[in-house]
Amino acid sequence: MGTTVLTFPFSMRGPPAFSLLSLLLLSYEASALKLTIQRPSKPPRTPNGNIRPPKASADVNNNLINKENERYTANITISGRVVNVALDTGSTDLWVMPPEGLPSFNNTKLNATLRYGDGTDFVRGDIGVGKFELGQYTIPFQAFLNVKEAAEAEEPDFRSGIFGLWGLGFNTPGSSEINDAIQKSFGASQNWGQSVLANIFAQNPTGADYIGISLSRTGDQEGTADASLTISEYDSDYEAVQNAPKIPQTPANSGSWTVALDSLSVNGKKITWPSTIRTAPAGKNIVHLDTGTTNIMMPAAQVAAVYSAIPGAVLSRNSYIPQTKFSTTYDVWVVPCNASVNVVASFGGQDFPIHPLDVTDMQVVTSPDGRRNYTVCIGTFTDVGTIVSGASDALFGDSFMRNAYTVFDFGTGGSTKGPAFVQMLSQTDATKSIPDLISVRTKAMANMPPEIAALDLVKIFNGTEASGNTGAPATGGGSSGGSNSGSGSKGAGTTFAPSMSVVGALSLLAMISCI
Ligand SMILES: *[C@@H]1O[C@H](CO)[C@@H](O)[C@H](O)[C@H]1NC(C)=O
Ligand SMILES: *[C@@H]1O[C@H](CO)[C@@H](O)[C@H](O)[C@H]1NC(C)=O
Ligand SMILES: *[C@@H]1O[C@H](CO)[C@@H](O)[C@H](O)[C@H]1NC(C)=O
Ligand SMILES: *[C@@H]1O[C@H](CO)[C@@H](O)[C@H](O)[C@H]1NC(C)=O
Ligand SMILES: *[C@@H]1O[C@H](CO)[C@@H](O)[C@H](O)[C@H]1NC(C)=O
Ligand SMILES: *[C@@H]1O[C@H](CO)[C@@H](O)[C@H](O)[C@H]1NC(C)=O
Repeated sequence: MGTTVLTFPFSMRGPPAFSLLSLLLLSYEASALKLTIQRPSKPPRTPNGNIRPPKASADVNNNLINKENERYTANITISGRVVNVALDTGSTDLWVMPPEGLPSFNNTKLNATLRYGDGTDFVRGDIGVGKFELGQYTIPFQAFLNVKEAAEAEEPDFRSGIFGLWGLGFNTPGSSEINDAIQKSFGASQNWGQSVLANIFAQNPTGADYIGISLSRTGDQEGTADASLTISEYDSDYEAVQNAPKIPQTPANSGSWTVALDSLSVNGKKITWPSTIRTAPAGKNIVHLDTGTTNIMMPAAQVAAVYSAIPGAVLSRNSYIPQTKFSTTYDVWVVPCNASVNVVASFGGQDFPIHPLDVTDMQVVTSPDGRRNYTVCIGTFTDVGTIVSGASDALFGDSFMRNAYTVFDFGTGGSTKGPAFVQMLSQTDATKSIPDLISVRTKAMANMPPEIAALDLVKIFNGTEASGNTGAPATGGGSSGGSNSGSGSKGAGTTFAPSMSVVGALSLLAMISCI
C-alpha cells in the first residue's frame, strides 16, 4: 500500500537527517573537536553545529531523569528489559531499541515506520507485545514498536543512553500508528494496541485520566524543583494546580496537546503575532506543548521580535556561529550573556515568566581563523519553518515547560470526563530569575574566554565563506542556560561534547507510511 501523508501533529525528536556518522567515532573519542562548517548551498535545513552541555543530572520522584536540559527520560521495563526512554507529549506510540535487544516478546509481525518532524527522522520495526512496568504500574500486554532501524537523527539520543520514546499524547484514531495497525488487523475491539497511558487509565475506570509533569533545570541556582511525572495524581509539591484555570485543548480534538496562547510579551510589551491557524480564538495563537521538543520554535518574525527587544542583540544570518538548539535555518541571534530579558507567555489569563536561562544558551566558539575563543550567548527560540504548518503556530518545548508544572487531562475518565484540558502552575519568579541569570553567568564567565559585543562577534564570523577555511568554529563548553561550577568552566572546554549532536526535537507534520 502506498504512503499517505497525514498532517497531524506528531513529534519529532531530532533534526532532519544530516551526515553525522563519519563524525561519530571521532567526536566521541576526541577530547576536543573542530568541525569544518560548510556553507550550505541551499537554504539550510539543519543546524551547522551543536553542543551538548556536559552535565547531566538525575532525579528523583518517579524515576524522571533530566538529561542535560535537553531530554527528560524515564526508565521503563518492557518485556523484562529496563530501557531509558524520552518522554514525549508530542506523540503517542512507544518504541524501544535497547542495544541488548529484548528478551522474549510476542511479535505481531506487523511492521511499522514511525516518522517524526519533517519525516526524515524515523524508526522502523515490528510491533511487539510484552509486559510494561513502571513503578506501581504493570500492563501485562502492551504493544510497542521493537525498532530494528533508526534514522541517524536518533544517534545523539542513543549516545546518551536513551533507547526509546514514550509517547504521552492522545490515543485517538490517526494519532497512533501502532493502535491503528493493530485494530485494522486484529479488530477494533482489541485494546492492547492502545497507548501506555490509555492502558494505565483503563485499569482504574473511575479515576481521572491525567498526568502531571514538572521538568527541572540544571545550571540554575534558583533551585528549580525536582522533575516528576505523575499519573492520575498530582505531584504533592504542586497540588495547587488543581485550582488553576482549565485551559481547553484548542482546537478541540486536535489529537495533540495544543492550547491557545493569550500572548507572548517581552519586557512588558506584547509581541505582534497573527495566527496562521484558522480555528485560533481571536487575537490568540495555537501552541503545541511538547516535552519532546527541546526548545521553543516559532516563526522567524516572532523570534526576531523577542530578541530584537534585547539591547545589543544582533541577528547573524546564515551564520557560522553554531546553533545550540534545533532550527530550520542557520540564522542565529547573538545576545549579551547577561541580558536581563523578561519573556512572559500567558495562557488561560495566567502569566508564565520564562527564566532568562531558557532564553539563551552559552557556548564557546573559536574564530574562523582559529586564533581566538569567545564566549557567546545565542537565542534558543528558533525558526519553526514549515514544520508545524496547519497544526499550530509554534512548538513550546522544554524551554517553556521547565517554567510551569503542567497537568495534561485527557478528559476520558472520572470526574473530569469531557473536553481535554491542561492546567499550569508557574514555577518561575521573574524577580528572582534575572538576578539568578546574572549570578550564574557571571560565575561561569569568570572561567571562560571573553565575551565581546554581539555586533563585533557577528562581524568576525561574517563573510568567512572563503574556500579552504580550516579554522571553522569549534564549539564546546557551555550549557543550556549557562553553566555553573564545572559545567561551563575551563574544564568543560576540554571535554567537548560531540558538536553535531543536535538535540532539538519537535512536533509536527508527520508522514505516516501505512503498511
Ligand atoms: C536508570 O537505569 C540505568 C541503567 O539501568 C541506571 O543506571 C539508572 O540508575 C536508572 N535511573 C533511575 C533514576 O532509576
Ligand atoms: C504471548 O502470547 C501468549 C498467548 O496470548 C501469552 O500466553 C504469552 O504470555 C505472551 N507472551 C508475552 C511475552 O507477552
Ligand atoms: C514489512 O516490510 C516489508 C519490507 O518493507 C514488506 O515487504 C512486508 O510486506 C511488510 N510486512 C507487513 C506485515 O506489512
Ligand atoms: C554584563 O556583561 C558585560 C560584559 O561582560 C558587563 O560589562 C556588564 O557589567 C554586565 N552587566 C551586569 C548587570 O552584570
Ligand atoms: C579554544 O578552546 C579550545 C578548547 O578549550 C582549546 O583547545 C584551544 O586551544 C583554544 N584556542 C585558543 C586560541 O585559545
Ligand atoms: C554580514 O554580511 C552581510 C552580507 O554578506 C551584510 O549584509 C551584513 O551587514 C553583515 N553583518 C555585519 C554585522 O557585518
